[in-house]
Amino acid sequence: MATSPTSRLAGLYNLRIDERLDQAAQAAGLSAELKALYTAPGGLDPAQADHMIENVIGVFGLPLGIATNFQINGIDRLIPMVIEEPSVVAGASFMAKLAREGGGFVAESDPPEMIGQIQVLDLADPEAAAVRILEQERPLLEQANTADEMLVSLGGGARSLQVRLLNDTAVGAMLIVHLLFDTRDAMGANAVNTALDVLAPRIAELTGGRTHLRILSNLADHRLARARCRIPVESLAFDHFSGKEVRQGVIEAWAFADADPYRAATHNKGIMNGIDAVVIATGNDWRAVEAGAHAFAARSGRYRSLSTWSINKEGALQGSLELPLALGTIGGATRVHPLARANLALMRIDNARELAQVVVAVGLAQNLAALRALASEGIQRGHMALHARQVAIAAGAQGPQIEAIARRMVSEGKIHLEQAEIYVRSGMSEGRDDDQSGS
Ligand code: MEV
Repeated sequence: MATSPTSRLAGLYNLRIDERLDQAAQAAGLSAELKALYTAPGGLDPAQADHMIENVIGVFGLPLGIATNFQINGIDRLIPMVIEEPSVVAGASFMAKLAREGGGFVAESDPPEMIGQIQVLDLADPEAAAVRILEQERPLLEQANTADEMLVSLGGGARSLQVRLLNDTAVGAMLIVHLLFDTRDAMGANAVNTALDVLAPRIAELTGGRTHLRILSNLADHRLARARCRIPVESLAFDHFSGKEVRQGVIEAWAFADADPYRAATHNKGIMNGIDAVVIATGNDWRAVEAGAHAFAARSGRYRSLSTWSINKEGALQGSLELPLALGTIGGATRVHPLARANLALMRIDNARELAQVVVAVGLAQNLAALRALASEGIQRGHMALHARQVAIAAGAQGPQIEAIARRMVSEGKIHLEQAEIYVRSGMSEGRDDDQSGS
């Protein structure tokens, strides 16, 4: 990437939708053709949708917002987020602003190796069968590579085989063969499943068993992405909360999640608020990502937090997040959905590993947004502020007036349409600050 445009679009919140699009498109250097895609309702033509699934009767729209302030591995990126829940985009933007003060997010992602599984049953000697597979690893990998020669020519393809022996009271011994397969910039489900089909007859022959399921695993734990950030303690202070109080509150909140699956489920859901929103915006399979994330969270035998928060040597709050991210920038809806293509361009992303780095950083930001709110003012204040904005808009408020009226209603504890209408008629107006917009 030649230049790094700024993701600091202060005041974006106050603009009209078309003005925001202008700013974002300009900052990201989006072509006129891609920019125009954002103005089509739902971003997806019913005729295009008709090619994606069966029995299409329409297109279901969701809000697409832009999270600002993100700096990941030194590169500024605007983040498209598709989500119906208020506070998420503002929360991510504001936490990205805090993380910037500590140098931004540092993120990395593993090579895009997916796992495909073949279940082998009816084995006379499961151990001997496992040994035979491993002895034939090279020729088996070569055979798997015949499934997609194009992918192999791009540097992807079969990498290794692993074998696992499982026992079940109903079906007895099972030999599970794992094919590790590099899918390059594709999520890779099709490539892996095809390679498994090619491999299965030979596996049956070698083991003398019966191959049953042949399917990709969504616990893509060879395709992990991780991000970390540090927030200077002074940057955490707000209202009457000192930086040290917020830092301690976040760590205590994290400890709760790490110790208790009931809390961890909600804590990780907050992380997935950020992750899914970008995964959906890029046309990726968010159910696959969800499945992988939660299975990974339970890898120790107990369901735990996906993130960690602690204090570093300088007293800053430091956070990290690691999870499987099987994401593609080619194939499937990433190419079919016009806005998925435009959103990748908006982020200036052209490969799957980079996308995983961005997505994991957004997950970490979102986790901090939730923990900071829960550990200080409580989550409800932010939600009420957004609810009040929606009421103000419903009452006809426009531009800076929306925020002025929303704030007044929140401070008075009266968030009603009738009240908002009175304020609209009275012509109340004032600007808003960065803090709540996340800009
Ligand atoms: C709400 O969508 C997400 C949170 O519940 C996450 C959390 O509790 O950490 C706020």
